Amino acid sequence: MTKKKLRSQEWYGRTGKDGFIYRSWMKNQGFPHHLFEGDKPVIGICNTWSELTPCNAHFRDLAEALKRGIWEAGGFPLEFPVMSLGECSIKPTAMLFRNLASMDVEESIRANPMDGVVLMCGCDKTTPSLVMGAASVDIPAMVLSGGPMLVGRFKGKKIGTSDIWRFAEEYKLGKLSQEEFIEAESAMSRSVGHCAPMGTASTMAGMVEALGLSLPDNATIPAADSRRKVLAHMTGIRIVEMVKEDLKMSQILTRKAFENAIMVNAALGGSTNFILHLTAIAKRIGVPLDLEDFDHFSSKIPLIANVQPSGENWVEDLFYAGGLPAVMKEIQKFLNTDAITANGKTIGQNIEKAECYDRNLIGTVENPIKPESGIAVLKGNLCPNGAVLKPSAASPHLLTHTGRAVVFENIDDFKARIDSPELDIDETCVMVMKNVGPKGYPGMPEVGNMALPKKLLEAGVKDMIRISDGRMSGTGYGTVVLHVSPESAIGGPLAFVQNGDMIALDVPARSLNLLISDEEMEARKAGFKPLVLPYERGYVNLFLDKVNQAHEGVDFDFLQGSSGSEVKRDSH
Ligand code: FES
Repeated sequence: MTKKKLRSQEWYGRTGKDGFIYRSWMKNQGFPHHLFEGDKPVIGICNTWSELTPCNAHFRDLAEALKRGIWEAGGFPLEFPVMSLGECSIKPTAMLFRNLASMDVEESIRANPMDGVVLMCGCDKTTPSLVMGAASVDIPAMVLSGGPMLVGRFKGKKIGTSDIWRFAEEYKLGKLSQEEFIEAESAMSRSVGHCAPMGTASTMAGMVEALGLSLPDNATIPAADSRRKVLAHMTGIRIVEMVKEDLKMSQILTRKAFENAIMVNAALGGSTNFILHLTAIAKRIGVPLDLEDFDHFSSKIPLIANVQPSGENWVEDLFYAGGLPAVMKEIQKFLNTDAITANGKTIGQNIEKAECYDRNLIGTVENPIKPESGIAVLKGNLCPNGAVLKPSAASPHLLTHTGRAVVFENIDDFKARIDSPELDIDETCVMVMKNVGPKGYPGMPEVGNMALPKKLLEAGVKDMIRISDGRMSGTGYGTVVLHVSPESAIGGPLAFVQNGDMIALDVPARSLNLLISDEEMEARKAGFKPLVLPYERGYVNLFLDKVNQAHEGVDFDFLQGSSGSEVKRDSH
């Protein structure tokens, strides 16, 4: 291995005034001079700790374990904060700010003296934003996830985030009191960590492990388990070695790695948000990936992990059953086992000794938890650039269905009318919501799994087809068509659906069509005016101007690709 001059020496290795300035202020933290002499890789710890992001609120503590590993391996850890996106608090939706956070990460890494970086990720958008930003710089990088919270317990039963939708329905029907509702809040969130089911946070943690950006078991070790700190410590040791090996993100994030991530996501029954984020990451690192790849590579993979919302259990249980390596082992014959990972080993080597300890949690290809999983990508005159549906979360009897459209023009219209006794709707209808796409809301919120009308819930209806250009929470479920592209706000065909139109969904044929003639569609398009939202300045204005559509990953057009790690202009 040839010893390469460390990138950080462009700062700390300078002589004269510049070197003085780069080092002197750092020394006010009590760092001795030898740390700057060029034989200790500077490892940035990109920390999304925030008390406003409760899923990441334990990250200061976790960072200490990570630092211990970095020191032990002869590195020099320096922690820095970046924008943290707390899914449960940020209005109108954390997705609106994913790209902004990624810009913060990208520029923070490039502009500062670091040789490698560990991305501390947890709550949903904190993973893709950090990976996207780091990918556009491309220095050695690893992900350390915060881990899932312990499963909640309420009235003797295990509960997690997916139960919120059920509690909300029971509360709506008067089956759960206000006091019980509040008690359930505390019972569900009883430990540090992100959501307990296979929601978007754990989907993202699984994604980085499948991509090879983390050490094995990153996806499932509970946040409260001491082994999460051991993982942090080992990540610290390994990132220093990665810098010495000059193993960059682009060497790990190959086309093979992306194919693996899609297959593993299917085995996990992961969130549909995965599609948007993986697409955006691929475009940053320059790997070709389109919507059809998600269908193609996931179609042969059944549901292996019995975890909510597609299954019955929680990510904590999956860890005890063998974790992600054991899941990957079951689909080994499909995976690109020669894909290299952050620990320098291949995926095949990493899962070689993996074992399943509980067949209730981890199925096999021959005897899966559910035969169908993954992502169905739909095409048709309602979604020329695609739409997606998660078969494992859908009702089998609705996967081929033609029904009458009940249209809501936007989220406010939906909220105002959904529970009206006058609403002309039955369980055979298709609920359509417009203007919740990237530009239409803006930010593409997780409202696609629209709550069913109260009168149908009271009648015992459990699921209906719902179609929108929005997203769905990773913990959501139902026969929900999402990410319709192009979106209605810019004149996608969804904008022209009218009450009473017939819509045909045929998931086996991968089609979604509005049953009107081409002439009628053209006539409806005439005179369309794009939605004009009242944002004249600031970040949201930039978002509306630059964001691309769902099938392209909802990234900004000018952020695709990488600018590398070189700083073009020097300071001082
Ligand atoms: Fe943070 Fe679910 S709200 S992971």
